[in-house]
Amino acid sequence: MNSPQKCPYGLYAEKLSGTAFTAPRHENKQTWLYRVLPSCSHPPYKPSEEKSEAVETTKEKVHYIPNQLRWDPFDHNEAKNDDFVSGLRYVGGAGDPTMKSGIGIYIYAAGKSMDEKSAYYSADGDLLIVAQDGDLDIRTEFGWLLVRPMEICVIPRGVKYQVHLPSGSARGYALELYQGHFVLPELGPIGSNGLANARDFQAPVACFSEDFGATASEGSARYAVTVKFNNTLFRTEQPHTPFDVVGWAGNYYPYKYDLGRFNTIGTISYDHPDPSIFTVLSAPSPVPGTAVADFVIFPPRWLVGEDTFRPPYYHRNTMSEFMGLICGGYDAKRGGSGGFVPGGASLHNVMSGHGPDAESNEGARNAELAPVKVGGGSCAFMFESCLMLGVSEWGLRTCKKVQEGYSEESWGGVKTHWKMPEGVQVNSHLA
Ligand code: FE2
Repeated sequence: MNSPQKCPYGLYAEKLSGTAFTAPRHENKQTWLYRVLPSCSHPPYKPSEEKSEAVETTKEKVHYIPNQLRWDPFDHNEAKNDDFVSGLRYVGGAGDPTMKSGIGIYIYAAGKSMDEKSAYYSADGDLLIVAQDGDLDIRTEFGWLLVRPMEICVIPRGVKYQVHLPSGSARGYALELYQGHFVLPELGPIGSNGLANARDFQAPVACFSEDFGATASEGSARYAVTVKFNNTLFRTEQPHTPFDVVGWAGNYYPYKYDLGRFNTIGTISYDHPDPSIFTVLSAPSPVPGTAVADFVIFPPRWLVGEDTFRPPYYHRNTMSEFMGLICGGYDAKRGGSGGFVPGGASLHNVMSGHGPDAESNEGARNAELAPVKVGGGSCAFMFESCLMLGVSEWGLRTCKKVQEGYSEESWGGVKTHWKMPEGVQVNSHLA
């Protein structure tokens, strides 16, 4: 049973649900937590007096821009006084947490661990964290997750956590998903294995502290618990640790994944396939095959396509693409002001044309098409969304990382190779 009259060891049983109770069985996400005190035992939350730029930047006017955007690496040397939560900055997004609709895209830069007696959770959505520089040792209610660069983790809505920095300052990217949950993409004709395999996802083992009084309101400890609720921070101080889960069972839990385990698939005949074959996790919208957010990576891989333009083809998409670089270089971008470098980002919004820059294009047109391994020591990623993404004032101006010349430097020099075939009559209304 899940809820005995008296749980073993004097624990309380508490259900944490990530879907409606009546969600279809294959989507249903619920977990039973067995803890020393139930989560409801806390003094009332009050609006946090601490000003948080993470939250302030979500309230800024967002800008909708048809131009391609690219950012230099976001600073984290100046983040000495920030922890993971205060070091989050909202770059852009779409939708509204109150309607459980949309996403928020963040950069984090932290210079110190969160206080040992603090915890944070978001009521707004699940947070996908992409570590780029520095390790995160994340204490969650469910146990610890060590997340290093080239690893990702997902912390579901409502799960309390505390982020430590065992290797010093840290920087990375994050996506908050206001609706639904990430799932593994269907594999279709690929078959039963491939892309990210389910067995490679890792979940924490319960780990608890003992810091309690005789009742939930007694005790000398002071644990500051902060919640983000509709992009507003509220705070309480409780006299017992929130990290008191002694055991748990269910399918709603934080998890991590090592991107090095991704099974990359590509063409072995011709043409550059759509990047959907690199999807690690997908958060579906109600429209079949259409994601609110796909998390896609571009790991080292062999290119063997015959008679093929091998870099990404030029394109304009109804989906918007926010890209980041975890490490190394990216094969479709060579030149340009600051370039596309680790810790930086780019945004190609709905129908914003893009593709290889002029130099990459010429290189690819003239390359000898032997099998070649690309992306060695490198991993770019993409948050792809069916939504039009607004860019925050912080993302566009305050961070001072937007590369002014990106579009012109990338594509201004794209050469005209067109030659009119001899003997062809032009059919022109003006002729
Ligand atoms: Fe693209």
